[in-house]
Amino acid sequence: MTTARAHTNIALIKYWGKLDEALIIPQNSSLSLTLDHFYTDTTVTFDENLTADSFYLDKKLVPRQRTSRTTHVLDIVRAQSGEKRFALVKSTNHVPTSAGLASSASGFAALAAAATKAAGLNLDGKSLSRIARRGSGSATRSIFGGFVEWHQGHSDETSYAEPIQEVIDWDICMLTVIVEKKRKKISSRAGMNSSVRTSPYYDSWLSSTGKDLTEIKQAISNKDLVQLGEISERNAMKMHALTLSASPSFTYFNGDSIKIMDYVHSLRAKGIPCYYTMDAGPNVKIICRQSDVPRIISELSPDFSSDQLILAKPGSGVTYLD
Ligand code: PMV
Repeated sequence: MTTARAHTNIALIKYWGKLDEALIIPQNSSLSLTLDHFYTDTTVTFDENLTADSFYLDKKLVPRQRTSRTTHVLDIVRAQSGEKRFALVKSTNHVPTSAGLASSASGFAALAAAATKAAGLNLDGKSLSRIARRGSGSATRSIFGGFVEWHQGHSDETSYAEPIQEVIDWDICMLTVIVEKKRKKISSRAGMNSSVRTSPYYDSWLSSTGKDLTEIKQAISNKDLVQLGEISERNAMKMHALTLSASPSFTYFNGDSIKIMDYVHSLRAKGIPCYYTMDAGPNVKIICRQSDVPRIISELSPDFSSDQLILAKPGSGVTYLD
C-alpha cells in the first residue's frame, strides 16, 4: 500500500491539441506553475482478492464506466512492473468543494506515483511524468513543483515533463476566481479535437506558441512577473481564439469571465501588474504578486465575494505520505 500526494498545475503556455490521441502526445510543448492549494492524495493497494480494479473518489465508489482512464494507467504500471493483481485505489481531492477546477492533473499524477511504488517500481520524475501523461496530458506536469515544461516529443519516450524552476524565491501567485461550480460542458478532449480539425488558425497557434514558450522561459529566469504575465495572458487568449474560430464555434467564457478580464485591465491601468489565464472552463486565474492580492480582492469585491476567491502559491512536486 502506497499513498502519494500531487498538486494541480495551471498552464501558462497551454497544451491544446493532440498529435497522438492514444498515447497523448501533444501538438505543442507547454509550461505550467504547480500550485500549493489544490492537491489529490491517492492510496493504491494491489490485492489478490480483487477481481477488478476498484476506485473510490472522496469515499464514494466510482462506477466502472467512469474508471477507464484509471484502469488504463494501472494496466501500464502492471505491464512495466510484472504486477498481476488488481488494485484498490482511494483518492481524496483537496480542491475546495465544487470549485469547478480540473482535478485530473493532480489526480493522475498522484495515481502514477502511488501505483508505481505500490507495484515495486522506483521511477525517476521523468518516467513518472510519462505514466501520468497516459491518464491526462496536464498530469504530466504535476509530477514536479514550481515552473514545469512538458516537452512535446514525438513518442512515449520523448514526451515528458521537466522542472524549469522548482524553488520559486520571488513574488508570484495565482488568485482563482470561481464563477461556475458545475462540470464543464465541453471536455478539454472534445474542445481540442474540434479546434485542431476546424480552426483555420490552428497552424498559427502552433508557430506562435513556440515563440511564447521561449520568451516565457526567459521571463522565468529573469524573475520578471510583468513579462511572464503578458506572455501567459496572450497565450491563453490565443488558445481561446481557437475555440471561437472552430466550426461550430464554442467558448469556455461566460459573462463573469469577461467581467473579471475587465477588472484586470482596469487594475493594470491603475498600476497593479496582474494578468488573467483560463482553461477549459469559465473560472479565471489571476497571475499577480502576493503583495498585491489585498488590493485586487478589494477591487473585485463589488461583484465577487470572498468565498469565490482562492489564493494559491507555487506548490511542490509529488511526495509520498508513508
Ligand atoms: O490534460 P487535459 O485533458 O485536462 O487538458 C488540459 C488543457 C488545458 O488545461 C486547457 C491546458 C493545459 O495545458 O493544462
